[in-house]
Amino acid sequence: MTLPFDGAISDYLARGAPPPVRDALKDARDKDIVTPGYPYPRWMDKAAYESELGALQLELVKLQHWVRTTGARVVIIFEGRDTAGKGGAISRFTANLNPRVARIEALDKPSDAEARQWYFQRYIERLPQAGRMTLFDRSWYNRGVLEPVFGFCTEAERARFFTQLPAVEAMLVEEGMYLVKLWLEIGRAEQLRRMLAREQDPLKQWKLSAIDVEGLRKWDAYSAAISDTLARSHFDFAPWTVILADDKYRARLAVIRHVLSVIAYDGRDMGVVGGPDPAICGGPDIRAA
Ligand code: ADP
Ligand code: MLT
Repeated sequence: MTLPFDGAISDYLARGAPPPVRDALKDARDKDIVTPGYPYPRWMDKAAYESELGALQLELVKLQHWVRTTGARVVIIFEGRDTAGKGGAISRFTANLNPRVARIEALDKPSDAEARQWYFQRYIERLPQAGRMTLFDRSWYNRGVLEPVFGFCTEAERARFFTQLPAVEAMLVEEGMYLVKLWLEIGRAEQLRRMLAREQDPLKQWKLSAIDVEGLRKWDAYSAAISDTLARSHFDFAPWTVILADDKYRARLAVIRHVLSVIAYDGRDMGVVGGPDPAICGGPDIRAA
């Protein structure tokens, strides 16, 4: 089986990537951090990760029980650069949960009918019922970042999105929903490394899309759209949590810890939940890359 863009990533490494990005990947060992300024030189120890993850997953089971019995509604938005690890974080988050309680929504590009309805409509339709959590793998923030970078929306449509956004999110919060917004950030060389790994692994090739391949060349346009979006949507009532996700283990733990720390469910063990690691977890200003 060959990919539609077989060799596109290695070709970009050889010919398109800026020299500092290419250099950062030279001699990099598995689990070395290649992003300049990242607060850790390597991924955390796997055994420590697995033991912390296990304890946090048990807390998520308690959270699920609480959500179910109290009728709470929880919305978690997973956003971030391509390959930042949204899918992996979501799968660790939901590994021991009931898929009817913790639902994942990963919407495809809008259909013709969806493209002609209110932009938020298909997301609103998928908000959780009482006693449910919805994890959005990408979200309405496509209109802030990805759509303008690829020309999938007009400037006027993006402007209208930002006009409506505060009211939409404020309504969810006023309604009593928990709204958690997570942005996973990675460096440019790390992103390229992950795409190379996907290209080379038959089990992961499916994760590569034309958007990813073209997006490699659009790093700066992405960066501008990301800064703009995070600055314009970091509301007091619905703030962003930015996680520096070059270390996937630390990032997944940070995602779960953050969610557990903002919802006071019964039986919460703060000794396990702990606090966010301020070295990799903060507001929009923490962005390193
Ligand atoms: P992912 O990286 O989430 O696995 P893709 O790279 O295929 O998936 O697509 C990234 C995002 O871009 C998805 O949310 C998808 O719905 C969106 N998208 C792709 N094509 C379009 C389009 N023509 N208009 C609007 N959104 C699009
Ligand atoms: C991720 O790892 O963040 C997601 O799989 C998105 C992507 O494929 O780029």
